[in-house]
Amino acid sequence: MGGSNPYVNQEPPQPATAKFKITFLPMNVTIEVDPEKIPYGHTGLPGSILDIALANGIEIDHACGGVAACSTCHCVVREGLDTISEMSDTEEEELSYAPGLTPNSRLSCQSVANGTRNLVVYIPNWNRNIVREGGH
Ligand code: FES
Repeated sequence: MGGSNPYVNQEPPQPATAKFKITFLPMNVTIEVDPEKIPYGHTGLPGSILDIALANGIEIDHACGGVAACSTCHCVVREGLDTISEMSDTEEEELSYAPGLTPNSRLSCQSVANGTRNLVVYIPNWNRNIVREGGH
């Protein structure tokens, strides 16, 4: 199942139960998240930033398939970080290998917002899949 790492012994976080919005930068695309549609796909934890992004044409790299085993899905949560699920030890470990780390950095496949606030999420340019961006 996407998002679950069999070596991570932790209950998956509860996704949002109310609608909220995520604005992705630098493309400046805002998506309204509908809890009824979670999980949007099969990559990353259900309702994670990666799950929502991929289903809406925002291509974030995800080399391990969204199971907290790489750092290619690194994102920076500029607003709403306090509404995102707690970081597991595994995420913390993998994230430490991400280039350009900031105090607001997270792995997008493991970051599940509770939906009580809108998010603003920056995708570092080395994590954007330029080839697929824009449907080319
Ligand atoms: S896709 Fe590998 S850690 Fe998120």
